[in-house]
Amino acid sequence: MDLFEYQARDLFAKHGVPVLAGEVIDTPEAAREATERLGGKSVVKAQVKVGGRGKAGGVKLAGTPDEAVARATDILGMDIKGHTVHKVMIAETAPEILEEYYVSYLLDRTNRTFLAMASVAGGMDIEEVAATTPEKLAKVPVDANEGVSIEKAREIVAQAQFPAEVAEKVAEVMVTLWKTFIAEDALLVEVNPLAKVANGDVIALDGKVSLDANAEFRQPEHEALEDKDAANPLEAAAKAKGLNYVKLDGQVGIIGNGAGLVMSTLDVVAYAGENHDNVKPANFLDIGGGASAEVMANGLEIILGDPDVKSVFVNVFGGITACDEVAKGIVQALELLKSKGEDVNKPLVVRLDGNNAELGRQILSDANHPLVQRVDTMDGAADKAAELAAAK
Ligand SMILES: Nc1ncnc2c1ncn2[C@@H]1O[C@H](COP(=O)(O)OP(=O)(O)OP(=O)(O)O)[C@@H](O)[C@H]1O
Ligand SMILES: [Mg+2]
Repeated sequence: MDLFEYQARDLFAKHGVPVLAGEVIDTPEAAREATERLGGKSVVKAQVKVGGRGKAGGVKLAGTPDEAVARATDILGMDIKGHTVHKVMIAETAPEILEEYYVSYLLDRTNRTFLAMASVAGGMDIEEVAATTPEKLAKVPVDANEGVSIEKAREIVAQAQFPAEVAEKVAEVMVTLWKTFIAEDALLVEVNPLAKVANGDVIALDGKVSLDANAEFRQPEHEALEDKDAANPLEAAAKAKGLNYVKLDGQVGIIGNGAGLVMSTLDVVAYAGENHDNVKPANFLDIGGGASAEVMANGLEIILGDPDVKSVFVNVFGGITACDEVAKGIVQALELLKSKGEDVNKPLVVRLDGNNAELGRQILSDANHPLVQRVDTMDGAADKAAELAAAK
């Protein structure tokens, strides 16, 4: 999960990385009071999860509270690379900036280690620096068990050739930034710029943090950082039900058991769609092993609630979960939805194979539900589902 700058700032502050005061607001008028609280001037910063805000006009200085209102008016609602600005941070203005550096930690999957990166050529063009003058970007592996002590931090700072007068301060930042990285279970913490300002202090003026969703279970506070506004409502509903669902932009709803089977189902449906108006899969949904009628009902409810869906393909390969259980699940799920008053009116194509397939098929035949058709091969069923979606 990527965070907004203001959230990164808060986490930095919590772990001792030097930052400036800042508060997030979503109306121009609130910029006035926030700027007054900061002593009458501020920096108005667009909060979007995309780089290059400054260059796009999303970071502006305001010398008075009135000016802050005007800048917030300009920036709120602005589109930055396809991201609409809904919030701005009103930040304390840094003392005169003398130099801008870059520092970060990230998970280096290729080398199975953590990596520290640092450069004295920070600021808005670090990507350019990395591409054209990679020697200016120090990359130092960090052993997960050893972490970053002040000695290790000094080594990183020395490799990046920081000027002597800031070296120790930057090393201290590297230690607190490492604490942030570990304590928050982050995949990335980045400061750009880390600014040397007029009084010699070193301050994190902009931050990027990406948190590891796999660590959610031990980070109860991270849930509050989720951007509820941006979440797809179907994905949010599926998540609330514990379903493994991803919304896609096609018309054929997909339910399967096992991530691998569902992935290949997406492929065969996309392929079959080429013969049927180019219809495509509308979602990924893995109901997993041992799926009960309730899980099936939850899955169907999400998929049938997607207005883009024109037909549904249920593709199950019985293994631990026997097909007769799945078939009962489908029949019960349709009854359950009907009893809940849901208007179920989209055709379902069901393919059952594997453990107890014959029994499962028999159950579907006996139920004889008007919306359910059985096709016994995966390709045939994909073709049928695509055809039905195209016909709608
Ligand atoms: N609080 C501040 N006070 C003074 N100047 C600032 C402040 N915050 C940012 N700046 C200046 O604005 C520049 C751009 O700000 P920032 O790094 O936050 O945005 P950005 O790099 O364009 O955004 P992104 O990181 O999304 O690409 C900084 O390099 C710095 O010179
Ligand atoms: Mg920046």
